[in-house]
Amino acid sequence: MPRTRSQRMALTTFVIPAGHHKDAWRRAGSRIEEVPGLDYVTELTQMAERAKIDAVFFGDVAHANPTLRGDIKTNGYYEPISTLSALAARTTHIGLIGTMSTSFESPYTVARQIAGVDHMSNGRAGWNLVTSFDGFANYSKEGIPAPEDRYRRATEFAEVVTRLWDSWADDAVIADRTGGHYADLGKVRRINHSGEHFQVEGPAPGPRAPQGHPIIVQAGSSGPGLELGSSVADAIYTAQPVKERAVEFYADFKKMLSAKGRNPDHTHVLPGILPIIGETASEAEELAAELASYVNIEFGRKQVEAGLKMDLSELSEDEQIPEEWFSLDPNMGSRYHVFRRKSVEQKMTLRDLIVDLARSAGHQWIIGTPQSIADVMVDWFESYACDGFNLNSPYNPGGMQQMCEKLVPELQNRGYARAEYEGATLRDHFGLPRPSA
Ligand SMILES: Cc1cc2nc3c(=O)[nH]c(=O)nc-3n(C[C@H](O)[C@H](O)[C@H](O)COP(=O)(O)O)c2cc1C
Repeated sequence: MPRTRSQRMALTTFVIPAGHHKDAWRRAGSRIEEVPGLDYVTELTQMAERAKIDAVFFGDVAHANPTLRGDIKTNGYYEPISTLSALAARTTHIGLIGTMSTSFESPYTVARQIAGVDHMSNGRAGWNLVTSFDGFANYSKEGIPAPEDRYRRATEFAEVVTRLWDSWADDAVIADRTGGHYADLGKVRRINHSGEHFQVEGPAPGPRAPQGHPIIVQAGSSGPGLELGSSVADAIYTAQPVKERAVEFYADFKKMLSAKGRNPDHTHVLPGILPIIGETASEAEELAAELASYVNIEFGRKQVEAGLKMDLSELSEDEQIPEEWFSLDPNMGSRYHVFRRKSVEQKMTLRDLIVDLARSAGHQWIIGTPQSIADVMVDWFESYACDGFNLNSPYNPGGMQQMCEKLVPELQNRGYARAEYEGATLRDHFGLPRPSA
């Protein structure tokens, strides 16, 4: 592959103030009482900004089902638009990416809200486009649509959003005080979309966003997910715990981009990584063991059951899930198959799966020093397993501090991460051109 991509990694951090490692909130000093207020999440975000990370990312689930299964780590506590808007006022450079579900929202609202955050932050907004597989009961919907149906709706949704973003030309606002014309109305166009799911007249109610199109991230690695990601996304989030598979995934995805006439260097592949960092290898191992000791195994069993849609009540923690209990159906979702392989190929016991899920939710986790973890990250980057990473802090605030003050500086020293912001917008940080209307 000719090397035209940046020599630097794209780096975002998936902010979960309770910590990505399940039950890490139990650690002394977790400041869990301050979740979901603004000051604590601001401090975490500002730490990432001081490390010159491209963006903070907020996931979102519009339901409390994990909490009811004893897992409070998920991000539903931070409604993305209110959170990003508040953070826009408290930060200056870092990108602000939030999740909005195409299954529940309306494209007109999402187009306005994400463009609004882009305006408020002078071009730092991003939208993580997801389809959701839970929470339908909160939106007057019965059952869960099949993945193909969710992604068909998501595809039309994304088309409407981007057309709305383009419905005001960049030079539509003329603010002609003398003539009394705020906008050149020939440059503010209706979109007149009429599709399977949405009828939207347009145009958007206000001027084009500073980035033209705020960044679109797509998270989901199934066939339909990648089909959509390769059509519209500027970056994709993916769970890739094994390097060889990540290299294959990367090559396949870049081929999909090329086949669609898109520049393969203009959509970043960003697998998640959860680093458990110590000054020495043994200190890191001790920390990992300490974090694992907080995991509530009975809640963990329920979470594995929910993730795999299996009844595991008859299985002891020291047994492996029988291979024949797993389905090979790709519609079970990419995360399901990550766990199927861990169980079947890596012969993990139920307890191992519970701790593994607690650590990473299917992403790669690494225990080590800033140097040894940077070695792995550089190796993945140089092997074309990724274009960068979505950093998952295992516990907070200490884990975020270790990532931002130890790991990222190690990457900066090696020339793989920026030492200063050079541009103003998230597109600039990601090295992506601004689309014209
Ligand atoms: C890093 C990452 C973050 C995600 N964040 C969210 C989220 O905030 N909300 C959500 O509903 N789904 C989220 N997802 C799930 C995806 O949108 C998708 O539904 C899931 O990966 C299953 O789809 P797939 O089978 O296409 O992979 C995320 C996935 C990844 C990899």
